[in-house]
Amino acid sequence: MGRKILLLIAVVLVAYYVYIPLPGDIEEPWKVMLETTQLKIMMDLVSFAEDLGINHYMDMMQLLMRFQEVQATSDENVTVIDTAFNSVPVRIYVPKRKSESLRRGLFFIHGGGWCFGSAALPAYDLLSRQTAERLDAVVVSTDYGLAPKYHFPHQFEDVYRALRWFLQEDILEIYGVDPRRVGVSGDSAGGNLAAAVTQQLIKDPDVKIKLKVQALIYPALQALDMNLPSHQEGLYFPFLSPSLMVRLWSEYFTTDRTLEKAMLLNQHVPMESSHLFQFVNWSSLLPERFKKGYFYKSPTLGSSELSKKYPGFLDVKACPLLANDNTLSLLPLTYIITCQYDVLRDDGVMYATRLQNAGVHVTHHHIENGFHGAFTLHGFLIAYRLKNQYFNWLMENL
Ligand SMILES: *[C@@H]1O[C@H](CO)[C@@H](O)[C@H](O)[C@H]1NC(C)=O
Ligand SMILES: *[C@@H]1O[C@H](CO)[C@@H](O)[C@H](O)[C@H]1NC(C)=O
Repeated sequence: MGRKILLLIAVVLVAYYVYIPLPGDIEEPWKVMLETTQLKIMMDLVSFAEDLGINHYMDMMQLLMRFQEVQATSDENVTVIDTAFNSVPVRIYVPKRKSESLRRGLFFIHGGGWCFGSAALPAYDLLSRQTAERLDAVVVSTDYGLAPKYHFPHQFEDVYRALRWFLQEDILEIYGVDPRRVGVSGDSAGGNLAAAVTQQLIKDPDVKIKLKVQALIYPALQALDMNLPSHQEGLYFPFLSPSLMVRLWSEYFTTDRTLEKAMLLNQHVPMESSHLFQFVNWSSLLPERFKKGYFYKSPTLGSSELSKKYPGFLDVKACPLLANDNTLSLLPLTYIITCQYDVLRDDGVMYATRLQNAGVHVTHHHIENGFHGAFTLHGFLIAYRLKNQYFNWLMENL
């Protein structure tokens, strides 16, 4: 009898974990399932521990990731060092081969929902190494303070401080970087920070050196409307569920979970800020094919209590989609990757639309069978393809 029950439990568990209905055209589905299952088990354990009151969810996730980090190790082609820019820790990758001229410089910002991750995670370390090598570029991969210890605008300010340090003539000279060929790049929350600091730089009279390009890999760009078509479709998208995305957004601003609750109901924006909805109005900003089957409904307005306590979620430095057209029109050449099966798809698509409307040159690669996280998955065909497109674009434009 006992054995049968155990077997039943095992079958249910396996079914629960392995049977995640993936969209049909995702490549290498078994590999994707294995990866998502591992992540799911980890997150469920962490969530269970949080419910027991042992530790904060994000702290524990961060701790688990710390174990995977790799040292700054030079190889035959790239010199890798850990240092600090204006007291912000950064990892720098400099190609070893001799160069006749000054090099490209790329300032990279890792993802992880403003709560976890670091330049030292194997996926990011590998990406920066490959970028340095393929583009003959100096790559600065920055870290920043993470939630729940730090909240907005701390992450933004860390990244901006490090970037401003890098964009000084004498610092670029030390690393042999051409001041006319510096770009910013980031994925997910790193794409959010990349878009935000790129906007901030335009308004900063103290910085003389300007960015040549920004590359945004499935960036998060707004926290106002949590009911975009990609949120509504996203229940079965791999790696990043709509509810986790809402949790990460709210953790960016506060550990108080009342904001998360209001965001889940999509009623966190107060009446006096309702004019901001025009900047994230998917009814006018998404091309028809992304709107299919969904009807636009203006989000319900909430009380102004939350936005008084946590004004960050209405701040353009957290939500780059809230910038006006005038600011957008001054942005540099832009590369955006969006993926069909990604909760953040519509953020990126709407930004591409708004930038194009403002006259910015945008290369928008929409990956029909792509999903969140695909860019940095080691050993996956899709990652190989995405990175190749990205390197080729940087090769031409940076
Ligand atoms: C260094 O570059 C050479 C030539 O491009 C390549 O064959 C080799 O694999 C690279 N080494 C590493 C550690 O990536
Ligand atoms: C959003 O756009 C639609 C269609 O363009 C328009 O009818 C609606 O009033 C807009 N809503 C807001 C809140 O801007």
